[in-house]
Amino acid sequence: MSKSPHYCPETLALSAGFFSDQPTRVTTPDITMSVNHCFVPEEGSFSANGIENLADTPFLYAGWTNPTVRQLEQRIAALECTDDAYATTTGMAALSAMFFSLLRAGDHLIISDVCYAAVYELAREVLPDYGIEVTPVNLTDLAAVSRAIRPQTRLIHAESPCNPLLRLTDLTQLADLAKQHQVLLSVDSTFATPVITRPAVLGVDLVVHSLTKFINGHGDALGGCVTGNKALIAQIRSRAAAHLGSTISAQNAWLIMRGIETLYPRMKTISDSALQIAQWLENHPRVKQVNYPGLVSHPQYTLATEQMAYGGGMIVFQMDDMDDIAQRFAQEARLFYYAYSIGHQRSLVVLLKTADLMASTYRMTHEQAQEFRRYAGEGVFRLSIGLENPQDLIEELEQLLR
Ligand SMILES: Cc1ncc(COP(=O)(O)O)c(C=O)c1O
Repeated sequence: MSKSPHYCPETLALSAGFFSDQPTRVTTPDITMSVNHCFVPEEGSFSANGIENLADTPFLYAGWTNPTVRQLEQRIAALECTDDAYATTTGMAALSAMFFSLLRAGDHLIISDVCYAAVYELAREVLPDYGIEVTPVNLTDLAAVSRAIRPQTRLIHAESPCNPLLRLTDLTQLADLAKQHQVLLSVDSTFATPVITRPAVLGVDLVVHSLTKFINGHGDALGGCVTGNKALIAQIRSRAAAHLGSTISAQNAWLIMRGIETLYPRMKTISDSALQIAQWLENHPRVKQVNYPGLVSHPQYTLATEQMAYGGGMIVFQMDDMDDIAQRFAQEARLFYYAYSIGHQRSLVVLLKTADLMASTYRMTHEQAQEFRRYAGEGVFRLSIGLENPQDLIEELEQLLR
């Protein structure tokens, strides 16, 4: 594998991990679909040690890795400024791989009290069955994080901006606190992508992404990754690849790598459009509140300017009559697609009602629920902005929010 020189991130999005070798001299990555690679028994051993020292190991079995998957991993590691990455079937597989590789019975996990519903449920409902204790904490409150840390705390897991509130976590301060207590810090940076925030540069140990979202950006492949230093990624890979079967397929790795090649211009265009739309929403007489990290009115705007290169593609807003408007989005919209996912080339929207989320997912203290309502009221429309012209999106919103 070639080693990338010190190129700028936009260039690394095209070059990291890519090599054009003889005899094909391709100008675009080829896809290797083979599940098996031949090996000479004395030289390539099928041991866990072989996975841990991947750089020296020939490709053996695609359940561990494959040349196309490895290119994707190298590209993500280069963009996140980390040593290595492990690419998984989905974002949830990356999060499971990390938790089940790093945590043992008796360990304690601190998780953001607001994060993607399935990871919150995994932490609150599944991990305790394996003897792992979990405390959800508002990670914007560093004193609360300090109080929650115990001798058994092994990992703090954050999400910034978090789904669905778009609340931010001060990653530099949280990383300092985690280091003082010798606790690992992971952050799910799916909403930000490396274009907007590079958490490892701020001191975060492990960066997780759902590659299904903005990084692939075309709504046609599932994937995830966890990226960090060599030793941690080796530990995660050796358990998750061999025992949990989490490794991404070559085909999806190839599609996602193609998405990454346009990630920088896409995120800039999407963020510029999202800012225009958020500003328009803020001035709409029927809109009660808009949360967007690029708006001066965002409660953590100063932190956003320090930690985020752009505001990103996600906007949440509140209004009255949300059920009626949701019906209009679902039945009348031509540009906004009413769907749960995010980060596609087309704009998506969904209504997330606070009462539904509280009943199905979040188990919150009174203060945590109050803080949730400060951002989300009784519910929000969550917009994932795509690559359409923002004026066309605004015209459609004008008709639908009438
Ligand atoms: C912030 C965040 N992390 C992780 C995931 C899970 O990703 P996947 O659907 O690829 O499993 C999602 C899905 O929406 C998400 O929003």
